[in-house]
Amino acid sequence: MAIEKVSVAGCGLMGSGIAQVCALAGFPTVVREVNDALVEKGLKGIEKNLDRLVEKGTLRAAERDAARARLKGTTKIEDLAGADIVIEAIIEQLAAKREFWRELEPRCGRHTIFASNTSSLSITEMAVSTGRPQRFVGLHFFNPVPVMKLVEVTRTIATDDAVFDEAHAFAQRLGKVPVRATDRPGFIVNRLLVPFLLDAVRALEEGVASIEDIDNSMKLGCGHPMGPLTLLDFVGHDTTYYIANIMFEEFKEKRFAPPPLLKRMVLAGWNGRKSGRGFYDYSDPKNPKPVKLL
Ligand SMILES: NC(=O)c1ccc[n+]([C@@H]2O[C@H](COP(=O)([O-])OP(=O)(O)OC[C@H]3O[C@@H](n4cnc5c(N)ncnc54)[C@H](O)[C@@H]3O)[C@@H](O)[C@H]2O)c1
Repeated sequence: MAIEKVSVAGCGLMGSGIAQVCALAGFPTVVREVNDALVEKGLKGIEKNLDRLVEKGTLRAAERDAARARLKGTTKIEDLAGADIVIEAIIEQLAAKREFWRELEPRCGRHTIFASNTSSLSITEMAVSTGRPQRFVGLHFFNPVPVMKLVEVTRTIATDDAVFDEAHAFAQRLGKVPVRATDRPGFIVNRLLVPFLLDAVRALEEGVASIEDIDNSMKLGCGHPMGPLTLLDFVGHDTTYYIANIMFEEFKEKRFAPPPLLKRMVLAGWNGRKSGRGFYDYSDPKNPKPVKLL
């Protein structure tokens, strides 16, 4: 059965982006937040983004209005129930996600596909709490969702082939490029990216080179759009630390273990751009300066 209606849980950074691309792709989309203020904040953010696209000339005003008309915000979980696919993008806590799915499951039709946007939690662990593990997949979008083309579509050993194919086709209908992966922490991108970022911190820790020289090396020597330490500042050190710990827990391999310097920075609250300080000081955001760490 082809997907026609979409529900999204969470209208934060990722949920709002997902709701936006679904509505723009022509799907009636309901998005749920925990209170009215957050529903309004999320929808306002989407409206601003759509307006910006019109100003830039990449979207016609009529298309913006049609997309906005397809979007409905709510605080009620039962409003999510009428969809063919529910995409969950709430906080990255297994207990909260399992509670959400447990509450939603009995309200949905048997055909509804459940998808989680988790970056690091086990899809299998969520799927088994729903009573429909065969209709559960991961749909891992990238930030910012309207811009980034990739979606990792992930399956567990219990996912039906037809459901996996349907979710893959759905990502294509959103204008994304889906890749197929299995349920392992980090999927594809973080499996490769996180050890690389952690190695950049280890190189700094061991005195191989300065912050700026490590970043410039990967930019100018490998053509990366930004250096690994700058990228860590963008992602947020707390987020990377959390994901690295989950990956280390699963694989027990040294390359996934967060280096002590990263842990110290997280403990100090130096989480990168969002906290004003990470490997760089963002007091002047347009002109970040490397900090003195050692
Ligand atoms: N931030 C990223 O770059 C990124 C990238 C890919 C995937 N993810 C994943 O996406 C998910 C959301 O991350 P985010 O960065 O958007 O977080 P966020 O904090 O910006 O948004 C999460 C939102 O979920 C809401 N929420 C909490 N419980 C809810 C519930 N039961 N029902 C509805 N809404 C609820 C919160 O109020 C919050 O607004 C996480 O699983 C995260 O791992 C994040």
